[in-house]
Amino acid sequence: MRVVIQEDYGKMCRWAACYIASRIQAHNEGPEKDRPFVLGLPTGSSPIGVYKELVRMNRAGELSFSNVVTFNMDEYLGLPREHDQSYWYFMHDNFFDHLVDMKPENINILNGMTEDPEAECAAYERKIASYGGIDLFMGGIGVDGHIAFNEPFTSLCSRTGVRNLTTDTRIVNSRFFGNDPEAVPSQALSVGVGTVTDSKEVLILINGHNKARALAATVEGGVSQKWTCSALQMHNGAIIACDEAACGELTVDTYKYFLDIERGERL
Ligand code: GLP
Repeated sequence: MRVVIQEDYGKMCRWAACYIASRIQAHNEGPEKDRPFVLGLPTGSSPIGVYKELVRMNRAGELSFSNVVTFNMDEYLGLPREHDQSYWYFMHDNFFDHLVDMKPENINILNGMTEDPEAECAAYERKIASYGGIDLFMGGIGVDGHIAFNEPFTSLCSRTGVRNLTTDTRIVNSRFFGNDPEAVPSQALSVGVGTVTDSKEVLILINGHNKARALAATVEGGVSQKWTCSALQMHNGAIIACDEAACGELTVDTYKYFLDIERGERL
């Protein structure tokens, strides 16, 4: 696992955006350029700075999305697209609507209003497989270490499915729902931990003091379904991009190790 520690949130986002751009560009110049680059994407406040930077590159003509297919991680069950807290709305508002060459037919987001959630999730897995899997999955992390909506004790082999949200997560996410945890949907559709770890590369953003325990559990703890992000320790292409604020619970030797081994990757 790589852990790339940047000084602050802005630098973490620029590093992550540059990394994603470099992977898309390498793909488009490589032997597989005739198939699309398949990019997994998250919502949440953590990726907003990455989206801004990717949009800037795209609008400056430095990065094209014309050969990119995207799959989002998750969606609240029961929220229509037009709801300003749906992840469909978030993704268009913060990212897709600002790109000059993203093809709408290449955007995949689970349908939170489906009448048949099981079928919706099975079809999502099939569609990912039809592209040969995901090349790079970017994600965030919950304060309890969840990736996508895979709460603690979700199987590390889980696939896309319906998830019950914990009270903790509903309280954390209530800041977007008028500070009312009851207003936060109690269920979501989410890719599984196994769906994420099947990707060729995984890039997880971890920033801020409130994520310090989650970062330590992801990097230094044992692989455990209690911290679903720890599954990335078994992945051969996992990168954690984090800021200094999130490093507060790492042991000093871990912190120094990654600064040393990643030297030159400091923006
Ligand atoms: C939600 C999303 C996760 C995201 C998490 C953290 O629970 N389902 O994918 O990682 O929020 O969000 P934030 O980046 O706002 O802390």
